[in-house]
Order: sequence, then C-alpha cells, then structure tokens
Amino acid sequence: MSKRVAPKVKARVEKLRREIERHDHLYYVLDAPEISDSEYDRLFRELLDLESQNPGLRSPLSPTQRVGGEPQEGLGKVSHRLPMLSLANAFNEEELNAFRKRVGDRLEQDDMAFVAELKIDGVAVSLTYQEGELQTGATRGNGLVGEDVTVNLKTIRTIPLRLKGPSPPPIVEVRGEVFLALSDFEGINRRRSEAGESLFRNPRNMTAGTLRQLDSRITAERPLSFFPYSVGYSEGIAFETQHGVLEQLRDWGFRVNPHFRLMDKMEEVAEYCRDWLAQRNSLDYEIDGIVVKVDQLGYQRKLGQVSREPRWAIAFKFPGQEATTKLLRIGVNVGRTGALVPYAELEPVDVAGVTIRSATLHNREDIRRKDIREGDTVVIKRAGDVIPQVVGPVESLRTGEERVFEYPDECPSCGSPIDSREGEPLAYCVNPRCPAQQLEGLKHFVSRGAMDIRGLGPQTLEKMVELKLLASPSDLYSLGADRILELEGFKEKSTANLLESIAQSRQQPFARVLFALGIVHVGETVAEQLAQEFGTVEAIQEAPEEEIAAVMGIGPEIASSVRTWFDDEENQALIGRLRQAGLQLKAEKRAAPPDSDSDSSPFLGKSFVLTGKLPTLSRQEASRLIKEHGGKVISSISSKTDYLLAGEKAGSKLAKAQDLGVEILSEQEFRDMIGSAES
Ligand code: IVH
Repeated sequence: MSKRVAPKVKARVEKLRREIERHDHLYYVLDAPEISDSEYDRLFRELLDLESQNPGLRSPLSPTQRVGGEPQEGLGKVSHRLPMLSLANAFNEEELNAFRKRVGDRLEQDDMAFVAELKIDGVAVSLTYQEGELQTGATRGNGLVGEDVTVNLKTIRTIPLRLKGPSPPPIVEVRGEVFLALSDFEGINRRRSEAGESLFRNPRNMTAGTLRQLDSRITAERPLSFFPYSVGYSEGIAFETQHGVLEQLRDWGFRVNPHFRLMDKMEEVAEYCRDWLAQRNSLDYEIDGIVVKVDQLGYQRKLGQVSREPRWAIAFKFPGQEATTKLLRIGVNVGRTGALVPYAELEPVDVAGVTIRSATLHNREDIRRKDIREGDTVVIKRAGDVIPQVVGPVESLRTGEERVFEYPDECPSCGSPIDSREGEPLAYCVNPRCPAQQLEGLKHFVSRGAMDIRGLGPQTLEKMVELKLLASPSDLYSLGADRILELEGFKEKSTANLLESIAQSRQQPFARVLFALGIVHVGETVAEQLAQEFGTVEAIQEAPEEEIAAVMGIGPEIASSVRTWFDDEENQALIGRLRQAGLQLKAEKRAAPPDSDSDSSPFLGKSFVLTGKLPTLSRQEASRLIKEHGGKVISSISSKTDYLLAGEKAGSKLAKAQDLGVEILSEQEFRDMIGSAES
C-alpha cells in the first residue's frame, strides 16, 4: 500500500537534500564545516527515514545514495564522446624548454600563458552531467571505451551529485583524477595485512581496485577523493582558458586542487616544477609530476594532437623516490588479530631528505615472491609519509652470505604455537592472551575513532600490559588511581585526567563501541550500520549470518567475520564485562526493520513522539516500552511520525500532531497497544 506523499514531506526531503549537499561541500571541499558531526548525522538520518517511508521520493541523486548499493554482476562499458588522451613526458628542464619552443613555433606567436598543475597519481575518470545532474561516471579504459563505475563514484563526497549554481549546461563532461590519501592507503593496507588479505602495492592500485569494486559498499568504506582538471565534451557552454575551466569547476562545487598556477614564462614553470619536486612529500597524496598546459583553449585547438597526445600539454615527470641499502635483518611484529607481520631493519639511508631505518615487508608471500634475503642489498621506495616499502633485492650484488628468511613457527611475543596454513600470506598467534595482541587491541580500543580515551599513548599502554594492569579493554574501567600513579610520568593531575577520560568514554555511542572491539572488517561505517540495524548487542549476537549479510552495507565476508567474533566465548565474556562497566551496548534509536514480518508487534518500525506528563508512566519508562517492542522514539514531530503519546500539558506538539494528522494516543490507549503486542 503506497501512501500518497504529502507536499510538505516532499518539500522537507528536498530541503534536507539541499542542506546535506551544502554541508558536504562545506566539509569536504571547503574544509569549513558549520555544524557538528552529530547534527549532520541527524539530518542524514531524517532523510534516510523519510526516503524509506516514502519510496516514491527516492532519487539516485540523493546524498543517501553515497553509501553504496546492491553488488553488481559486472561493470558496463561506456564510450567516451571525446577520447581521453594521455600525455607526452619531459624529464628535465631542457625538455620543458623544447616543449615551449615547439608550441611557439607551431602557433607562430609567443603570447601564450601556461597553467601548471600537480599531476595526481591516481585513476582518470570522466563524469557526465546532464542538466547539472550526475548521470554516468566512467574510467578512462583504453581512452575510447571505459567502464561504468557510476555507483562507486557516487560514494566520493567531493564529487557533486548536482552541480552547484544556476543554469547548468545541458551536457558537460568533467574529467579528473580519483585518488586515495596516503594516510588512508596505509591504514587500509595495515588492516588487510593483519587480516591476512593480499595487499595493494600503492595508492593508485588501491584506487583502481576500489573503483572497479562490484560491491560499492566496500568502496564506500574507502575514502576515495577526486580532483577535476578539465572539461571534455560539453553542450551549451564554452570556455576560453584552462584556468577559467578550473574556476568554473570550483564554482560548480568541485574540490579543485588549490596548487595550480597560471604563468607566462617557462622559467617560472620550471621553478614551480623544482619547488614541487622538493615539496612533494608534504602532500597527503602521491604526485608523479607536474602537468603543464597552454592556457588559451583557442591555441589548444590550433595545436591539436599527435597520436593520443595533445601538443598543448606535457607532463614533467618526477624521478621515483627510491634508494638502495642493506637489509640487516628481518623482524616480525604481532598485530591486533595475531597476524605475524614481517618488517625489514635497514642500514640507515637517506631518501629525498629523510632517513629510513626500517621498511614493511607485508607478508611471507611477498618475501618469497620477491626472494628477499637477510643481508641483501635492496631497493626501497618511499611515498609521502607512507611507511617505506622494500621493492626487491639487487640480485647482482649478492655475495652468497645472504640468509633466506625463516618465517617463525611460534609467536615471537609469547612463544605460543601459531596457525600457519600453507599458501596463506600470514600466520597467526593463536593465544588470545598474547601480550602483543592485547597491546595492539588496546591501542585500537582507545584510539580516536573508537573510544577516544586521551592520555593513553602506546608507551603507557605497553607499560600497563607489562605490569599486568591491563589485559583486556574492560580492565580500563576498573583501573584505580593508585595503580596509575605507580606509572612513570603520572602525577595527580594527569591521573585524574585519564580517569575522567575513561569515565567519559562510557558515553560513547554503541557504534563506536562496536568499532572499538576491533572485529576484522568492521570499520566505522560498518559498525554504524550494524548499530542502526540491530539496535542492541544482543540482537547482533543472536542474528544468523545471512541476516547480518543482508544488512545494507554488509556483505558475506564481513558477516562471517562478525559471526565468528560473536561466537567466540572469550569475546562473549568481554561483552559481559563491558556491559558491567556501563558501556553503551544499545543504539540510541532503532531504525525500522525494512521488511520484518508484521504479525508480531504493532510497534515494529513505528515512530513515537512523547509529550506532556503521562498519568502513571515516566518518559523513560514509556520510551523503554516503545523500544522494547520494536518502536523508536524521536524527539520532534513531523508528518512521518506514526504516534504522538500525549499526556497533560501537551502544548505545541499536540497541535502540530493534529495539524499533520498524526495519530494521538493517551496512556491508556498506549497500554492497550502494549497488551496486544504482548498477547
Ligand atoms: S590533463 C590531455 N591534468 O595524467 C590531457 N592529467 O598521462 C589529459 N593526470 O590520464 C590529462 N593529474 O590521469 C591532466 N592535472 C592533471 C592531471 C592529469 C593527473 C593524469 C591523467 C592522465 C595522465 C596523463
């Protein structure tokens, strides 16, 4: 039965979308948020609720579509209306000057300007907007035909779903580079390594893999970003200059890379290139050079292209950030999940001004495949702030003294046996009380995105584990001041602060607690979705794997990991202790189960607003009863509210409910409903 949608609801939905778009732009593009995360979440939830109650109002352009959709079978093909070109390279200033000369000679004049832009090392895509609305997004592919990755591109918050501003052109194709921040790349790879999954070589590969994901909900978990750099095919709009294109893109709401520069002279361009070569590591994304473009589009047309390379642009390529050094020893760290992750101890070496002493080796497969031995001279690569990587050995420099690495057959931290399967990239320490694992688990538990307990750095935690003050996260909540004061560096004040921070963390919402547990594959977004869908830890504990997998945003792999975690008795005991400690194991409000069988309770999925003083029930009791029976309590009334539970002195909410035609219940009627729900 589809309800007719009241115009008020429609207007509210449109208003919410505009507001959320505006806040996305403020937050992601301008770095200048106006509201708190929780206010933003409230707007987003309200929109989600309205859309789920009024399917007729759903839209592919709604901000709610950014969380990903149903997995796809495969990717469709998209033909580019204009081919996506590649660039010729210049490797030094001479070649830049030669480019300048060719351009001048061909145009038979010298009054052109140049725009220099950072060459982002990501994946090129094309976005087609019709009447200002994003229709399709495609990869470059072979330049003529790419793949349809629209759903995945929609998860990128810096890609507007609707162009900002009045009178967008009938058609415009925006081109640019999708990329992943180095810090995010590193974090994702670290988690993959601990989970024994294969690793991405570099941010570009991770970006490409993520963009081509068939399950866009995995894409939504990886914070891809986008910098536009040109306009391809368009109708109804014309540009004069490249810098004008960039300015228009900015006005349409894109995040244009701020470092582009308009210049007249090639000497200036060369200086810009030198500067960025020196500064490249200050960025949180990889650049592999500078793109230099003739600014005037009229000149660009005159210059044309040779094969697939325009004559009006060139890529000044940076040298790779590699160096060779001696690999002294291979060590092994134990991660949060017990994964034994190898790393290289190196003879210190300078790479682009930074001294490198160690590098990651990812996993034993990687070591075997690359045949890296202790004592080898190795090539290492640094990218931004990412932990340096060992690219491979220089085999020609071997002396015969090198030692083949023996992956440990017991845990280097606690000496326990390990779970080591042939063909698996990593082995795991099976001891749940392994101090190294406990330490990593605790670091995650207290981290900023999780319980956010300040004043507990890695070293303090290490000391606490060593002194057996802490083994499990639940121990944090019974720590006494006397024990903390025994630790080096803790005085009255810092101890009080730490205790206060621990106490405050009890108020962290359920989703954060779920994230803090460190369940493999349960990132912040998945935790949020589990909390919203299931509402309580018990509900998750009892849910069959298929039910978990069916939740929007969660696939079979994540579901299996969640199930395994909750089936473990140790973990169940931990939940019990965290409950004792007073942590939030319930979501604040419960989302309507989308297709629960409706025979059970008249409360299921219904929203209630409370107002006035009820004859016998307190507000808290009434709320609890509603939630226990599957309903949800919301604070403000709207046309989507199902019931107003009204007592004495109900005031404006009562009037509003009458206005909107929301059903009004007395306490007695409410009690009758409960009676019928329980019978
Ligand atoms: S312009 C015809 N500008 O570099 C010119 N490209 O080798 C087309 N790239 O596939 C590209 N940053 O993916 C341009 N600011 C930028 C760029 C950029 C990165 C990539 C792009 C292209 C490749 C060219």
